[in-house]
Amino acid sequence: MPEYDYADYWPAVADAHAAVDPLGAVCWDGAPPWFNRFLADGQRRALERAMLATLGDERRAGRALDIGCGAGRWTRWLARWWSDPVGCDLSAGMLAAGAGPRVRADVTALPFAGASFEMALSVTVLQHLPAEAQQRAVAEIARVVKPGGAVVLLEMTNRIAPGPHNFPRPLASWRALVQGAGLRVERAAGEGYAPLVRLGVAAARRLPLPRARRSGGDDVKGVGGSRPTAASIGALPAPVRLVARGVVAASYPIERAAERVVPARLALHGCIVARRT
Ligand SMILES: C[S@@+](CC[C@H](N)C(=O)[O-])C[C@H]1O[C@@H](n2cnc3c(N)ncnc32)[C@H](O)[C@@H]1O
Repeated sequence: MPEYDYADYWPAVADAHAAVDPLGAVCWDGAPPWFNRFLADGQRRALERAMLATLGDERRAGRALDIGCGAGRWTRWLARWWSDPVGCDLSAGMLAAGAGPRVRADVTALPFAGASFEMALSVTVLQHLPAEAQQRAVAEIARVVKPGGAVVLLEMTNRIAPGPHNFPRPLASWRALVQGAGLRVERAAGEGYAPLVRLGVAAARRLPLPRARRSGGDDVKGVGGSRPTAASIGALPAPVRLVARGVVAASYPIERAAERVVPARLALHGCIVARRT
């Protein structure tokens, strides 16, 4: 099995999915749209909470950098707060699937002058870099944000399924990483619990279900071998797929309740807001 190299892996994901299913390329690649819409809904609400708590609801003049922007869904969304959002991504295929200002760039070596942005955002990007690259990336993010500027990260803290392209950290570890780059953490919250979906994924992994193929799920470019993944959901027998869809539909209200009662350490993601001092 080839080793995971983010510079190869993400362009391959983009080639397989970005043109036909941009959300599939950036959420759980190859999973059906109704599954990814649930994940995206949780991400949007988590990010809104963070932005409203930090910046309020006011639109300002300034540049905001969407790191690892994929097809640009958060770059567009950032326009609610900033006059000039810009995306960057290492994958040309992801960038081609989007529109608006965007630059091809690796977050570990950003082609921007220091203190060029009022804000930087990373949504499920750093979690896909090995630890040493995460450190370089956070140092780069801290460098390009202006003093007083905000950094918002939404990254994985617990994995829903294994994968050689996932490098989660507990919330305290993301916090320490950010602080190590000289940023002051203002807010750190657990986000995304999905208890039913987690149970469903655990159950599915015990069943003799169809395996993800070359262009889907963890099996892109052979990385991850052939294990059942969310990409397999689309290939499930119709009755099982119906149950899976029901589980996801029921998960919307359950998620809102879980956000109030489940401890942050059980969350799938963490959202950190920090400032450059
Ligand atoms: C899971 S997707 C998330 C995309 C986007 N943030 C979103 O939520 O829609 C991860 C993205 O990070 C990009 N990426 C991975 N490693 C990167 C790096 N070192 N520098 C820049 N982008 C990177 C990938 O190409 C991909 O578009």
